Amino acid sequence: MIADKERRTVLEARNIVKQFGGLTAVNNVSMHVNEGEIVGLIGANGAGKTTLFNMIAGVFPPTSGRISFMGQEIQGLPCHKMCRLGIGRTYQIVKPFVNLSVLDNTVVGALNQCKDVKSAREKARKTLDFVGLGHRMDVSSRNLNLPELKRLELARALATEPKLLLLDEVMAGLNPTDSGRVIELVRRIRDERGITIIVIEHVMKAIMTLSNRIYVLNQGSLVADGTPEEVSKNPEVIKSYFGEKRYAKN
Ligand SMILES: Nc1ncnc2c1ncn2[C@@H]1O[C@H](COP(=O)(O)OP(=O)(O)OP(=O)(O)O)[C@@H](O)[C@H]1O
Ligand SMILES: [Mg+2]
Repeated sequence: MIADKERRTVLEARNIVKQFGGLTAVNNVSMHVNEGEIVGLIGANGAGKTTLFNMIAGVFPPTSGRISFMGQEIQGLPCHKMCRLGIGRTYQIVKPFVNLSVLDNTVVGALNQCKDVKSAREKARKTLDFVGLGHRMDVSSRNLNLPELKRLELARALATEPKLLLLDEVMAGLNPTDSGRVIELVRRIRDERGITIIVIEHVMKAIMTLSNRIYVLNQGSLVADGTPEEVSKNPEVIKSYFGEKRYAKN
């Protein structure tokens, strides 16, 4: 294990604001992620979690604030440049190319770094084996069930060879057995591939067991951060977040 103080900062966001017309979706948020960490990002519906991911992944620029990745300022760069630099992401609403096979969906991701289609296909095959979809690679993605679609999202993002992986609710809608398997997979992605990860998740068991540290958003603002233990004891978090019925039952 690398000692905490020796870890490099992979991502640093400073004073990030995102306004959509009159709505401030993200309000002056600062956060950092160190190499090899799994960092949780939680908050009630509409808190601004996906909006923060969209700015880190280059879907749209922040209204103000700075984002640096591996020491380089990246705010405002488009998605394909973020991806090329090493930022991979999954989508909250799965977005397979429905006319393509599982293998070809993953090849699309692999082409981010591979120089030719042959090596991209090889990388895609290995990645599908890693996520447990190797036996489904020739199937059309339209025939996958939800747990398989979530794994395909992971495979496509992993095939881009990210240094930082943004996971947006990869466990949503899965039963406890399937989410347990995804928790294991996320841990293996960090432990075996050395990929730094930010996880957005409403499944509290997943967040609490996976995360080294957690940031809590409420209505666009950061209200707490710390270890899972610190955050779960924070009165502000208990009031604004854990008090809700939907989290109590997970
Ligand atoms: N492209 C957009 N245009 C306008 N408003 C947006 C856009 N994207 C998000 N919003 C608004 O910004 C706020 C934050 O949304 P966001 O999707 O980031 O929340 P979230 O924390 O991911 O919620 P959930 O847990 O439901 O996924 C919401 O009020 C949402 O309606
Ligand atoms: Mg969201």
